[in-house]
Amino acid sequence: MSGTPSRRPRVAVSRSGLPGEGVERLTARCDVTAWAGTAPPTPAELAGLVRGCEGLLVLGSDHVDAALLDAAGPGLRVVALASMGYDGVDVAAAVARGVVVTHTPEVLADTTADVAMALILMARRRLPAATDALRRGAWGAFRMDAFLGLDVHGATLGLIGYGQIARAVARRAAGFGMRVQHHHPRRKEDDELSRWVPFGELLRTSDVVSVHTPLTEETKGMIGTAELALMRPTATLVNTGRGGVVDEEALLVALRRGQLHSAGLDVMTGEPRTDPSDPLFHEPHLVVLPHVGSATETTRAAMVDLAARNVMAVLHGHSAPNPVPGTPDLPGRRVTAVDLTDS
Ligand code: DGY
Repeated sequence: MSGTPSRRPRVAVSRSGLPGEGVERLTARCDVTAWAGTAPPTPAELAGLVRGCEGLLVLGSDHVDAALLDAAGPGLRVVALASMGYDGVDVAAAVARGVVVTHTPEVLADTTADVAMALILMARRRLPAATDALRRGAWGAFRMDAFLGLDVHGATLGLIGYGQIARAVARRAAGFGMRVQHHHPRRKEDDELSRWVPFGELLRTSDVVSVHTPLTEETKGMIGTAELALMRPTATLVNTGRGGVVDEEALLVALRRGQLHSAGLDVMTGEPRTDPSDPLFHEPHLVVLPHVGSATETTRAAMVDLAARNVMAVLHGHSAPNPVPGTPDLPGRRVTAVDLTDS
């Protein structure tokens, strides 16, 4: 590849060995440089990787800010996320520079909804505590009052946000015999699965509250002390959206005071959290997973494939199939305001 000047677009990919065939297909049509390190690239390393590139394919955990966009240079045309969430990218800064930002809707909704249901079941039925007891040799004689949880069937599920993942959870919840209601700040419609309710009513009347909203300035800390206080003491809170939407300190306090029955988190602030003594990992009524919502072989491959397709579309002069909602699908287009509330 080195030596002769290439007319093929240059694309940086922030990891090696990504699943699926997307990067291979990209490599057939572009000059691809993938980060070769075993650890994710630092901001300076990512800046070095993307310098002079027209395309950048990143993961949801990477950070793409104005400095990185500037490091890429004026030729950058597309930043494609292999993730549904786009809080790691300064979307407004990209749009201001005429750079298209894309993400991966559709392909991960069902897989992530499965994990939301798993967390609901694990937290409400207190299944990890039962597994732990087995591992400690503490099963003991059968008791009518051992390992008691709360029923999922017949419970009311309140979805915060009503995008693709929330709807996929609603479909599953119907099969589990749950009643479903949702709150979305702007879309107030009911459908056959769920009815729209005001935010406060959702918190007060749901047995399970499941968070499915992107992390934005508006949603940061939207479930804090005051909101947890509105919830039923028998309620379960689940978050498969983004850490930061739920105030973790407030959640721990609420669980310890018995203001809430249980909680399940697949996402946290400051990921990855690697301290084994992290209080979030040791709270008895809290189930925590290391951000595995979309982690199946098929879905992760589909996410990378879709990100690669978005890169190729833009670099070959076509509209991006999956621009972040409210942003342009062609490079060079700028919009006056970026509205990120709609996923
Ligand atoms: C997503 O797609 O947003 C998942 O959280 C993985 O980044």
